[in-house]
Amino acid sequence: MRKPLRLGKTISILPIASESFGVRSSSFYIMFHDMTILLDPSVSLAPRRYGKKPHPCELLTAALVRRVLLHLSSKANVIIVSHYHGDHYTIPWKRYYEYSDYAVFEKTYFNTRYSSTELDWKVRNPDNETEYFQNASRLIIAKSLADITWNQKKRALAFWKYPVSNGTILCDGDNKIFCLEDYGLRIEIIGNITHGCDSSRGNIIMTLIVDESSERSVLFSSDVEGPCSSIAVGEIKRRKPELVFLDGPSFYHPRFEHHLEEQIVQNVDAISDISKQVFMDHHFNRGLERDAYCREKWGKIFPDFSRSIGLTSANLESRRKDLWGNAPIEDFDPQEAWETVTSEDPRDSDFPFELDTNMLQHFKSFLKEC
Ligand SMILES: [Fe+2]
Repeated sequence: MRKPLRLGKTISILPIASESFGVRSSSFYIMFHDMTILLDPSVSLAPRRYGKKPHPCELLTAALVRRVLLHLSSKANVIIVSHYHGDHYTIPWKRYYEYSDYAVFEKTYFNTRYSSTELDWKVRNPDNETEYFQNASRLIIAKSLADITWNQKKRALAFWKYPVSNGTILCDGDNKIFCLEDYGLRIEIIGNITHGCDSSRGNIIMTLIVDESSERSVLFSSDVEGPCSSIAVGEIKRRKPELVFLDGPSFYHPRFEHHLEEQIVQNVDAISDISKQVFMDHHFNRGLERDAYCREKWGKIFPDFSRSIGLTSANLESRRKDLWGNAPIEDFDPQEAWETVTSEDPRDSDFPFELDTNMLQHFKSFLKEC
């Protein structure tokens, strides 16, 4: 497995999947001493891009990512759900391009088979009241149902109604601070932040992870789309995170609001000024010209999440037209990709077409640990 990105002596960050890995996702595995946090365990694919459906390479990558996520989620002490879009949240019904159904949903969030460490959490809510969760083998911190769309609410219903077992705590995270005093770990959940510039797509939460002994921290933006909103950039600036994993603007999108571009560029500049390193991916890597855009707007390249751990970027969705054009492959059913990944041992199998070698090695190395 690629070495995770280290922040000080305690925090290790391993990006699991994002557009630069070849799928729609923004999932991270964060290790702090011997405890682990899994952020936004889900994966999806654009049903249509350039008028074309997902290429078999994308299907296979998505199936591999799903398999890796199922493995990691069984070990995680904390799972964070930033909002209820399919690329961040495993939807509890059949979704072909997300490799999800009710059983996958259940396993993703509520399988605590290997997360046996019991932890004592101290939680501070926005009114400065303190609550304690003791002996929690799994803490799930999720965006509340406030200020989200009707569609997201429908998807989140099974999640909030799930009969959690002893040891699992399901808690809304909006503007709460979760501390593990024995470890010196603090998780700050920053909400309610708009998905992009306004709340038409519902709100999201951002996550800040802090080592309290050094106050070194890393921020994960989820879907701020830039950031576009001045509230989001203000919240990030106030916390001065050393590392920032940003989703960037959707400049590729035909409905990208160009009149907001200048504001977004300034917001990213402001974050770059207070942080040691900004990584940009997710929406940003759906555009083929993401590096050229960086150079033009900021005079430098913000590496994507793959590059943060020394991989080359796959960006399969933005390359979809070329993928279909260069390597014509017979129709490949999403189910076939799942069967390829699960029926044989993916560590040794020869896949029916060439997948970006770096990515394949990356996912295979995860599966070696299964
Ligand atoms: Fe997203």
